[in-house]
This record gives sequence, C-alpha cells and structure tokens, in this order.
Amino acid sequence: MRRVFIGSDHGGIELKAALVEELDAARIGFTDMGVHSGEAADYPDIAQALCARVLEENESLGVLICGTGIGISIAANKVPGIRAALCSEEYSASMSRRHNDANVLCLGGRVTGPELAKSILRAFLASSFEGGRHQRRVDKLEPHC
Ligand code: RB5
Repeated sequence: MRRVFIGSDHGGIELKAALVEELDAARIGFTDMGVHSGEAADYPDIAQALCARVLEENESLGVLICGTGIGISIAANKVPGIRAALCSEEYSASMSRRHNDANVLCLGGRVTGPELAKSILRAFLASSFEGGRHQRRVDKLEPHC
C-alpha cells in the first residue's frame, strides 16, 4: 500500500492528530512530519519538506493542513511535480485524484471538522487517477522551458 506523509503548521495540528488516528485505524503506513507542538510554525517550511518526501517516494501521497488550507496549498503547488488539492468535501477530494492526479490533499484545520476531514481523506485515498484524456491535461500543468 502507498505511504502517506502528513504534516501541518500550528493551525492544523489538532486536525492532523485526528487524521493520524484515522490512518492508524485504517492500518495505512504513514509518516507524521510535524509539527509536534502548538508553537507557531511557517507553513511553507512544512509544505516544502513534505512535498520533497512525496516526490522521493514513488506512489506516495501527502496530506497538508494549515488554518485554512490556503497558505499550505499555495506553497505545495509551487513545488514542481506536486499537484495539491485544497478540499472541503469528499467529491472534490475524489475527483482531484481521478482527474487531476493530485498527490497532496490540503485541508483547513480551522474550517473543516475532524469527522468530515476523515471522510475527505478516505475519499482521497480510495480514488485513483483515470489517465486517458486527463493525462494530457495533467502534463500541461508542469512548466515547460
Ligand atoms: C497561521 O495562523 C495561519 O495563517 C496558517 O495556518 C494558514 O491558515 C495560512 O494560510
């Protein structure tokens, strides 16, 4: 089964704890990349560290959480090869995998409750890229020199 890397800033630490429980319960192999305290942290640092691991480990997926999910998704999407989807419901989470080949799910710890977030995570992990016409579009997402 593919590995999941999960990380948050201080604004997402509580939701991260809930999702770690969910990954544990589902027996999905994961690495918690922090933060591990409520001390203020800069979301670009977490995003960059986690995205590097996702790119290193074939087929792995990432989950990033900040207060709204906005800052950390912007940061993740600046990393070449990362396709980060900020989701607040299950349908978008599933479609981000099926059509956009998203490799990072972003959530807002101050806007999405833990049970909904768990359900969004399950939808994301249960869905796969459909390829075909979507591959052409995904290829066009990467900057070409
Ligand atoms: C931190 O207070 C907050 O700005 C951050 O978690 C995030 O919401 C930024 O987009």
